[in-house]
Amino acid sequence: MTRPPKAGVEPRPEIATELRDAFISTWGGEPLIFRAPGRVNLIGEHTDYNDGFVLPIALQYSTWVAIARRDDRRVRFRSQTVQKTAEFDLDEVDPLPRHDWTDYVRGLAWVLEAAGNHLVGADMLIDSEIPIGSGLSSSAAIEMATGYGMLTLAGAAIDLDALATAGQRTENVFIGVRSGIMDEYASCHGVAGHAILLDCRDLATRLVPVGTDTRFVVANSMVRHAHTASEYNTRRDECETGVVTLASVLPGIRALRDVSLAELEASETLLDPVIFRRCRHVVTENARALRAADVLEAGDQAGFGALMVQSHESLRDDYEVSCAELDLLVETALGIDGALGARMTGGGFGGCAISLVRQDAVERFSAILAEKYEHSTGIAPTMIVAEAGPGVGPGPDGLGFDR
Ligand code: GLA
Repeated sequence: MTRPPKAGVEPRPEIATELRDAFISTWGGEPLIFRAPGRVNLIGEHTDYNDGFVLPIALQYSTWVAIARRDDRRVRFRSQTVQKTAEFDLDEVDPLPRHDWTDYVRGLAWVLEAAGNHLVGADMLIDSEIPIGSGLSSSAAIEMATGYGMLTLAGAAIDLDALATAGQRTENVFIGVRSGIMDEYASCHGVAGHAILLDCRDLATRLVPVGTDTRFVVANSMVRHAHTASEYNTRRDECETGVVTLASVLPGIRALRDVSLAELEASETLLDPVIFRRCRHVVTENARALRAADVLEAGDQAGFGALMVQSHESLRDDYEVSCAELDLLVETALGIDGALGARMTGGGFGGCAISLVRQDAVERFSAILAEKYEHSTGIAPTMIVAEAGPGVGPGPDGLGFDR
């Protein structure tokens, strides 16, 4: 017997109305409402900061912001999720992270001002459907929602690529994680029913419809291991070290994206064995992401699933960013009827695993995976069935919010 799936995370259609009412009682005045989604990456992991290819979808879960203009340059903001309030003055943003949720708002304001935008003071109330710290990019979503709101209040024309880049810069320069562009890009440019094949070198995209006879089931391991940010930065350093060495025999390369597997293998003896394996992950993962877009488009679900499995093995063995809990989720998922593939998704060291599952098997699959994971670890995972949704924008029309 299988139990019903653990209560997953539900999108809350009423969140905009609740947020507006809460805004009025917290700050007073009628706010504008904006939302930006989280994302899940189907394949192409740790390739974005190597100028490579990723294939994310924007999720049906968003971070929402209610925002209204002030007459001064103060920004007051409150998170309904953590029930905390913070504020700063746009003329005195110190570029020092506090290492908490407020960094995303303060850091983004600092980056946007430094990029030449003249923001105006604002009151903001923020709420989210995206589980925090789950690897579904709640941080990119808060950046993109508040950034979109602040730019709108300032009367600025919104360039989504510039907004995504400002979010990446917030992570890189303000917070100190040298992440790529994938999370913010997906949160900005999501398209319902589609994955985005993104070339992280020039931000060229190809939209790929996600199949209708299979679903992507995302299981949250509910763990997040220590040193995730420093390990992430170490991986990026290792890739850069690899490029410097490989450039001695492959002049003109700028990033691992420019290296083929044959070229890498021919240079193996030049590289430290760990660096070689890191590079091999990136080079093969790039090829898998490109191939995956083609097979998804062609409706070859089994082919896509096989690429997911290879991706996980490469992330586990060559890149070493998986962990026992993610390996357990993936291995368990692959043993359940209806699963066509599974892998860790996101930065790693915890967070989520994603499985490609036959539509008719989704409910049973989710229940069994949750039960087995809980049985082995004592931890109940939250499960979601991913829906590819739209990117950042104004809140729901027809509620009188969009002025
Ligand atoms: C994190 C980063 C992304 C990307 C992934 C790994 O989510 O924020 O830029 O590097 O890890 O693919």
